[in-house]
Amino acid sequence: MIADKVLSQSEFWRSLPVESHRILREACPTWRFDPGETIFQKGDPGEALYLVLAGKVRIFRESLEGRRKVLAYVHPGEVFGEMSLVEERPRSASAVAETPTEVLVLFRDTYMNLLRRFPLLGHNLARIIAARLREMNDEILFLTFEEAKSKVAFALLKLYRHRHGEPRDGGWFIPIVHQEIANLAGTSRETATRVVHELRDRGIIASVSSGLVLRDLDALEQVLYGLQ
Ligand code: CMP
Repeated sequence: MIADKVLSQSEFWRSLPVESHRILREACPTWRFDPGETIFQKGDPGEALYLVLAGKVRIFRESLEGRRKVLAYVHPGEVFGEMSLVEERPRSASAVAETPTEVLVLFRDTYMNLLRRFPLLGHNLARIIAARLREMNDEILFLTFEEAKSKVAFALLKLYRHRHGEPRDGGWFIPIVHQEIANLAGTSRETATRVVHELRDRGIIASVSSGLVLRDLDALEQVLYGLQ
């Protein structure tokens, strides 16, 4: 069963007994979204957390001039919407299905009931939020102080860490265009293209139709830290 496989690999459900999978599935409805469909918008009231069972979700914010910054892509086993659930405040960002997507919807009341039964769930959620804060600290450092090459390397490695894409040709394929890399890296499109060409010429990545293949992750990490 797809939900069992996803739950057994999910950080949110880590170390919880297999029997609890059934309890969670019975307590939570499954919702499906088409590609491009809005799941929620920044500012909406937030009553539930979502656990991705299949597909991919884009989390983003929009600037006052309407420019979009992708904050994250959420993949099977990962959760989103947990901030409003625990803070009881409006959604801090918008969520859109990137591909056909299936999610388990965990409403606040159900969460509180499950928490009494499985207290570890609260610790798992705290770990997920701590990991995101750690990643954000790195992101702030790289996006604020480092040069364009490091920013692009950070963006590509972040996508890889979150398993955005798939293994291909002995590397890791990421479906992405230069403008999206620029948005993630906080550079202009021209700068992102210049860096992509440099990394490609050095064999660290390859350009393929509809995206990039990361060929040498160690070298990309060296670029991130300004060592190459
Ligand atoms: P919530 O505020 O309920 O709704 C928007 C969701 O986007 C938020 O919960 C988090 O789950 C997710 N989110 C917000 N900021 C980030 C971020 N920087 N990285 C990854 N996910 C985020």
